[in-house]
Amino acid sequence: MRIHLGSDHAGFALKEQVKTLLEERGHDVTDVGTDGEESVDYPDYAGIVGHAVAEGTADVGVLVCGTGLGMAIAANKVRGVRAVQAYDPEMARMARLHNDANVLTLPGRHISAEQAAPVIDAFLGTTFEGGRHQRRVDKIEALADDDE
Ligand code: RB5
Repeated sequence: MRIHLGSDHAGFALKEQVKTLLEERGHDVTDVGTDGEESVDYPDYAGIVGHAVAEGTADVGVLVCGTGLGMAIAANKVRGVRAVQAYDPEMARMARLHNDANVLTLPGRHISAEQAAPVIDAFLGTTFEGGRHQRRVDKIEALADDDE
């Protein structure tokens, strides 16, 4: 898969380990930064990855910040992005299966690379079920139209 990967400073260490894991799995990874522990603003990276996913440059995105929460909030502001924070493989699986999530966010200050690996594998290894869930995802996307 073509995966855009990003983090802020709090997610940098885990992001580097996730990059290695994704490359070992054979994915085409684009690392959008950040490149170190210096403080940066997570919405900047959520925006880059979110737009890549929304525009189809990436199949999915993976974002890491301290909690994964700010990244999810920010990425979900990009139309077409369905970002979820998960640190449990079953939640990651269900987010793909029922919600057609296209961005996974991870809490870099709260899980290890060993804990993150099965979450990432569950997310990337599950496809959207469609059917009645497509109708619901369409309704999620239609909510953005209400604001225009
Ligand atoms: C940075 O201190 C921290 O706020 C950020 O990484 C993230 O956890 C925000 O949601």
